[in-house]
Amino acid sequence: MHNSLIDTTFCVRTFGCQMNKHDSERVCGMLEALGSEQVGEIEDADIVVFMTCCVREAADVRLLGQVASLKNIPLRAGSHVSKRVIAVGGCIGQRDGEKLTKELPHLDVVFGTHNLASLPRLVQEALEEGGHHVEVLDESLDFPTSLPIDREHEWAAWLPITIGCNNFCTYCIVPYVRGREKSRPLEDIANEARGYVLSGAKEITLLGQNVNSYGRDLYGKPRFADVLDAVSASGVERIRFATSHPKDLTDEVIEKFATLPNLMPALHLPVQSGSDRILRAMNRRYDSAHYRELVQKVRAACPDIALSTDIIVGFPGETEEDFLQTYELVREIGYHQVFTFIYSRREGTPAADMPDDTPREVIQERFDRLVDAVQEGAWQANQADAGSIVPVLVEGASKRDARMLSGRSPKNQTVHFPLPDGESVSAWTGKTVDVHVTEAKTWYLAGEVVR
Ligand code: 5AD
Ligand code: SF4
Repeated sequence: MHNSLIDTTFCVRTFGCQMNKHDSERVCGMLEALGSEQVGEIEDADIVVFMTCCVREAADVRLLGQVASLKNIPLRAGSHVSKRVIAVGGCIGQRDGEKLTKELPHLDVVFGTHNLASLPRLVQEALEEGGHHVEVLDESLDFPTSLPIDREHEWAAWLPITIGCNNFCTYCIVPYVRGREKSRPLEDIANEARGYVLSGAKEITLLGQNVNSYGRDLYGKPRFADVLDAVSASGVERIRFATSHPKDLTDEVIEKFATLPNLMPALHLPVQSGSDRILRAMNRRYDSAHYRELVQKVRAACPDIALSTDIIVGFPGETEEDFLQTYELVREIGYHQVFTFIYSRREGTPAADMPDDTPREVIQERFDRLVDAVQEGAWQANQADAGSIVPVLVEGASKRDARMLSGRSPKNQTVHFPLPDGESVSAWTGKTVDVHVTEAKTWYLAGEVVR
């Protein structure tokens, strides 16, 4: 087939979760395999791909603005395409399909979460024929794991073990745009992990909307604990995973934090609310007592573990009393990190039809109060590491100061330390080095490398 992608340039903009970031790595890999070259700036790109998220309204609005603003940016000098091709994929593409090209007539390609592999063909059709090329499928044909990949960092790999979600939390759009949960065969996961280790990955992050329910749809019903064993056996230095639904976290998985040396002592366990009434309305299928019990078990298995969570403030019908239960839970548990969200109404979800009359200012005030507690808790949690020596996987130069290096501790804390005189950032990136922590702040640790 004639390949119209040769000598073109492309740029990918990614919104949302790690699954989208991983999908973007596949998009880059596929376009590069066909001879297109990746560039950092939209101005230099003949093809612009947006990988989108619709979990909250803010991302929706941002996408529309960004696509609209592209209309006035001229093509780069020397481009051989007649018109820049703009493609929207991911969750908004899946949700809106054809409708997007009505709102944004200069959009050329729309694809969804189930047909990543179609993107190069749709882009070629748009380049050759002009017009709109929309393809959205209801279900994935297969796991998109055989697609080429261009990893963002050599030292890190995202490895999806499930796609989709069966949980239908009442506020959440994900099950509608990512489809039903599908697990990948254990063998495939183990092979991919081994491949990443051979190609230099120091850290593998296992991905799924709920990794704890892995395997229920597979022959022999392998469990998430089996995945952890298999990936651990790859010999990778660090393993992380996200996300973990409290209703399905088993003792067997908790035990792995005590027994697998390369499973990092950090657990993201989204609680969403501390009120049992709200948890029920959210269809979370656990209560606050069960959550507290899990935290106790996790800490018994791994006393120094760093916990993080997600919380929604202002779910329909949330009262001050409900909120205080969330606030108390956050203060009691002492999270290293809490991702706080104001409830965002998503059309088509059950919560969108629930009575919701709490004034915006009341919700904002609760949110601010919670953020204060989160910051205090994070600062307190980090103090445990002041004065200690932590192994840091270096990610590169600090964003704020090119003479500083940044990386992650086992507990996933960001660690900053000075780049030793006369040394280059690239020589340190992807290496694990011991850092003596001299100061523990709210959102990072600061220190000096131990020689
Ligand atoms: N409004 C606000 N936050 C939401 N999340 C998911 N859906 C919504 C929504 N409609 C949050 C949850 C989830 C995280 C990824 O995003 O806390 O854990
Ligand atoms: Fe959404 Fe709940 Fe599924 Fe997470 S578990 S993706 S919050 S429905």
